Amino acid sequence: MEPAPHPRRGKILPFVPDGESWVARHVRDLPRSGIRDFFDLVQTMEGIVSLGIGEPGECTPWNIREQAIFALELGKTGYTSNIGLPRLRRAISRYMERLTGVRYDPEEEILVTVGVSEALDCALRAIVNPGEQILFAEPSYVAYSPGVVLAHGVPVGVPTRFEDTFRLRAEELAEKARPGVKALLLNSPANPTGTMVKEEELEKIAGICRRENWVVLSDEIYAELTYEKPHRSIASLPGMKERTIVFNGLSKAFAMTGFRLGWACGPAPLIAAMVKIHQYSMLCAPILSQEAGVEALEHGAAEVEAMRRIYQKKRNYLWRSLTALGFPCHSPEGAFYLFPSIAPFGLSSKEFALRLLREALVAVVPGTAFGPSGEGHLRCSFSPRMEELEEAVGRLSRWMRKSFPKKSDPAARS
Ligand SMILES: Cc1ncc(COP(=O)(O)O)c(C=O)c1O
Repeated sequence: MEPAPHPRRGKILPFVPDGESWVARHVRDLPRSGIRDFFDLVQTMEGIVSLGIGEPGECTPWNIREQAIFALELGKTGYTSNIGLPRLRRAISRYMERLTGVRYDPEEEILVTVGVSEALDCALRAIVNPGEQILFAEPSYVAYSPGVVLAHGVPVGVPTRFEDTFRLRAEELAEKARPGVKALLLNSPANPTGTMVKEEELEKIAGICRRENWVVLSDEIYAELTYEKPHRSIASLPGMKERTIVFNGLSKAFAMTGFRLGWACGPAPLIAAMVKIHQYSMLCAPILSQEAGVEALEHGAAEVEAMRRIYQKKRNYLWRSLTALGFPCHSPEGAFYLFPSIAPFGLSSKEFALRLLREALVAVVPGTAFGPSGEGHLRCSFSPRMEELEEAVGRLSRWMRKSFPKKSDPAARS
């Protein structure tokens, strides 16, 4: 019998690398962001008015930009300490104490990162053992589920409902308690729904986390952008600072998305674990952003308040307009998104968003980009300038009158 040809000497086809076979399975299986897909399409079109973006329509306040320019002029172009400039960490400590009432030690309990995005990634990688579960309210910010998967964990979305103003209910959370759950990822005010966890609910949720010995990852990036009542951090509740990592940053309230500056505050051992990941993967956040960050935190309060008031006016305008057009919609308590229902119009959120884009040249994000319970909704950001919101509303109402003649006509409905 002929011996089987040696695999290297037999008839070998030329090796053509297909690239994809090298990609790790958990990365290959990760779906692309629904927002990205949609906005790739938007990029190919002209004359679009976009309510899709998740960033402030305004530019960074001038005094903050000036500090970045000044730092550059002084030749500050090097690395900083891995955990961030000491001046910035002290400023963060004072800011967080003003915002949440909780004091963090700038030496051991604060890590400066490249946006909240990096802070979240470091935290997940620092705490998750393969297969451990992370809970979060869904619809959720698009990065939560993939972030958990990339840390080799299992994301578990806890569905919330329009009828319940998308609130995370303590009793529903308690039903998810089982061995293998490591942490709760909390986001209040929330993207994409604008919902804030109520004080009584927050206490109940904190109680469950203490009972089940869960870590809490609290994404408080919209803490300054609240319209009805001030934000309350779960870390400020009894026995919670010890088990909570709080995330915040400059992207939203300070209109500094492109500076890429955020931070995590939490128990020293968890921050130390995150520092290990951060120092090997990122080294440090950009120095110019850190210099600008000191200015933002020390002298930015008046500008933040002025922007918050403008968001509030824009929220009221867009909410009134969408409601008048027949969209069932809650007025969000925080962040800068409306999450109206499209139930009266008989289309899926993707169909609705695609038609609105193609036929009216208005971009919004289909609710399913934020998880399955986002079906039947759209995310409409009120962060763009007022003139853009007015243009979008004008186009939307003309399109609605044509496409859904009765439902979108307030006179016909009354
Ligand atoms: C809830 C939430 N967390 C985190 C981020 C990312 O923030 P950063 O720009 O600080 O990375 C966003 C951005 O949209 C967000 O909405």
